[in-house]
Amino acid sequence: MDKYVTGAVIRRLRESKKLTQEELAQQLFVSSKAVSKWETGQGFPDISLLEPLAKALGISVIELLSGEEFRNRNRASDMARSKFYICPVCGNVIRTVGEALVSCCGITLPPAEPEEPDPDHLIRVEISEDEYYVTVEHPMTKDHYISFLAAVSDHGVQFTKLYPEGNAEARFRIDRVKGLYAYCNRHGLFEKKPGI
Ligand SMILES: [Fe+2]
Repeated sequence: MDKYVTGAVIRRLRESKKLTQEELAQQLFVSSKAVSKWETGQGFPDISLLEPLAKALGISVIELLSGEEFRNRNRASDMARSKFYICPVCGNVIRTVGEALVSCCGITLPPAEPEEPDPDHLIRVEISEDEYYVTVEHPMTKDHYISFLAAVSDHGVQFTKLYPEGNAEARFRIDRVKGLYAYCNRHGLFEKKPGI
């Protein structure tokens, strides 16, 4: 957790829910004086109250801690515009269709910004029948390897998890693919448009 809830956030959210300090206090089984103290920076709600507090304010705990409410403005949800979030601690990969606040292992993750492949991370594509055969010439050691390959179309994602000592290769259906991605655990995300 890199932030804790602030009084200003509690007040803003409480007021936008049209709750009085007393009404919020009742829902949390605390005194209205306690709520007043949080809002004026003279105290913090106990961590055990974060979940009921978020619930009472109609948001998630993560939103409460970040002080921002997230609403997906991309309801049309073009998959090709979605993002990868990669956890540097456990290697988890999260793919979102629209904007999101993503947290893993206690860290709020930024979306991975893909780069053009450099000579050490060239993504090669061969077409065989209805498939892209994708390879990356890259070490696959325990410390430095390509940890996944993905093909993103406007309606879905094909994803292949890779492991050290394996081959940096995958096969994807040629199905409206807009971008091919390779993620190196040391150097980040690389993107190639098929056919280029
Ligand atoms: Fe690398």
